[in-house]
Amino acid sequence: MIGRLNHVAIAVPDLEAAAAQYRGALGANVGAPQDEPDHGVTVIFIELPNTKIELLYPLGENSPIQGFLDKNPSGGIHHVCYEVDDVVAAAAHLETEGARVLGAPKIGAHGKPVIFLHPKDFNGCLIELEQN
Ligand code: CO
Repeated sequence: MIGRLNHVAIAVPDLEAAAAQYRGALGANVGAPQDEPDHGVTVIFIELPNTKIELLYPLGENSPIQGFLDKNPSGGIHHVCYEVDDVVAAAAHLETEGARVLGAPKIGAHGKPVIFLHPKDFNGCLIELEQN
């Protein structure tokens, strides 16, 4: 069911410093910051030849990233995103497999529907599924 790896998301304690490091030391193609108020994050996408890296930084009071950064002050991998053909069908299938889908589909950072799967059901890894 899952297709390509769309991105790996890394929560960072300093967005400008992280972007500068990817642009400079790692020589990557780093995009501009985008505020995603519906998700409580500011994101920067980094284009790699075979996938993307999403730098995540908290936005607003109740950002889901803040708790993660409180536990991981130097940052860390927050989620991986796989592509699927249909997030609604994928959610229905995963529920029959006993996995917990976190909430209803939302429009993600690429303007496409996304869902998240409970990390405790997937080896401690938060999974995002993006419709492509
Ligand atoms: Co993501």
